[in-house]
Amino acid sequence: MTRLGTPLSPSATRVMLLGSGELGKEVLIALQRLGVETIAVDRYENAPGQQVAHHAHTITMSDPAQLKALIETLKPDLVVPEIEAIATPMLEELEAAGVVRVIPTARAARLTMDREGIRRLAAETLGLPTSPYKFCDSLQELQAAIDAGIGYPCIVKPVMSSSGKGQSKIDGPDDVKKAWDYAMAGGRVSHGRVIVEGFIDFDYEITLLTVRARGEDGGVHTHFCAPVGHVQVAGDYVESWQPHPMHPVALEKAQEIARRVTSDLGGQGLFGVELFVKGEQVWFSEVSPRPHDTGLVTLATQWQSEFELHARAILGLPVDTTLKSPGASAVIYGGVDANGIVFDGVQHALAVPGSDLRLFGKPESFVKRRMGVALVHADDVDTARQRAKEAASRVRPARAE
Ligand SMILES: Nc1ncnc2c1ncn2[C@@H]1O[C@H](COP(=O)(O)OP(=O)(O)OP(=O)(O)O)[C@@H](O)[C@H]1O
Ligand SMILES: [Mg+2]
Repeated sequence: MTRLGTPLSPSATRVMLLGSGELGKEVLIALQRLGVETIAVDRYENAPGQQVAHHAHTITMSDPAQLKALIETLKPDLVVPEIEAIATPMLEELEAAGVVRVIPTARAARLTMDREGIRRLAAETLGLPTSPYKFCDSLQELQAAIDAGIGYPCIVKPVMSSSGKGQSKIDGPDDVKKAWDYAMAGGRVSHGRVIVEGFIDFDYEITLLTVRARGEDGGVHTHFCAPVGHVQVAGDYVESWQPHPMHPVALEKAQEIARRVTSDLGGQGLFGVELFVKGEQVWFSEVSPRPHDTGLVTLATQWQSEFELHARAILGLPVDTTLKSPGASAVIYGGVDANGIVFDGVQHALAVPGSDLRLFGKPESFVKRRMGVALVHADDVDTARQRAKEAASRVRPARAE
């Protein structure tokens, strides 16, 4: 698809986002700029992306019947998953029947919708280095897996979860039951399956944003952005920066892992490949077949942000992953449980040199909900990180009234 139409006319190129949070919102804006007609779908009204799209729909995306009905009614040219909790087997059916094209592919969406599909593909099919792991369905199986070789310390995660929900580290036998109970409470669906992973004592972790895009020659080529470094607290990203310096051998291994996993998943689009690095050693952790939260930093650091890269790649257009400037991002949490909150201190935040801000416009705030992000470009990453944290801390979310 290289011909683009006029939105809201019969010639329109129509793209449906499944999930319209802060990442989807930026993809939608990038698509809008190319004159694409956009449809934002989410599970709640007034989601960030719904506020900037031509059309908004609110459905339960994990319900195959609702998903099928919406896609068959609206007949978008492309369906772009932005979250994991989608009825992906239905997407596979619709793709196989030629009803719609799924980004990057329906199979990629299915394999990455839980931790098991992608981990087995990476470790068992592709033979990529990963942490030692085992899937368990009960506390007894968890204890047995640890005793049989995973050992301590290890990490337990619900098979269906993201942003660190239900995830915890086990340092010794006393923590096992606590970690199991925590995983059961934090999973997205109530079936009690977890992955237990040996703890990797890495020097640092990166997201390697990897783009599969068509060149002018018509072939699909793999492009890499400069490595994004990040800090996670309790499994949730709080700070990221780009570029993260890497030993050339580690960088080459990282790119090779990313190339292999993304070419197997196939299709076109941007992927966030999460990797752990220790010296020259690199482990694959997981991959998102879509823009990655830590990649928000590229709004300040690249000529084409990860969102613009995704938009271009899915439309069959060429991409440029060149870095523009070192930079950093720092997350702004809600700090309060309330609806329709206000943000004070924005004028002070934006007075930080090289700073910019995204306030996502989420209707409801939670203490630990990501409500915005500070973005900073600077001459070096250290300065950018310090300024991004400063800018983020100057924004003060509060209850209205
Ligand atoms: N085996 C491991 N060894 C060491 N640290 C780990 C391991 N697995 C996860 N972590 C740490 O926890 C973080 C979150 O893990 P993971 O990415 O698997 O969870 P997630 O819920 O998918 O998070 P997100 O949705 O934010 O990517 C990792 O980025 C890393 O910092
Ligand atoms: Mg992760």
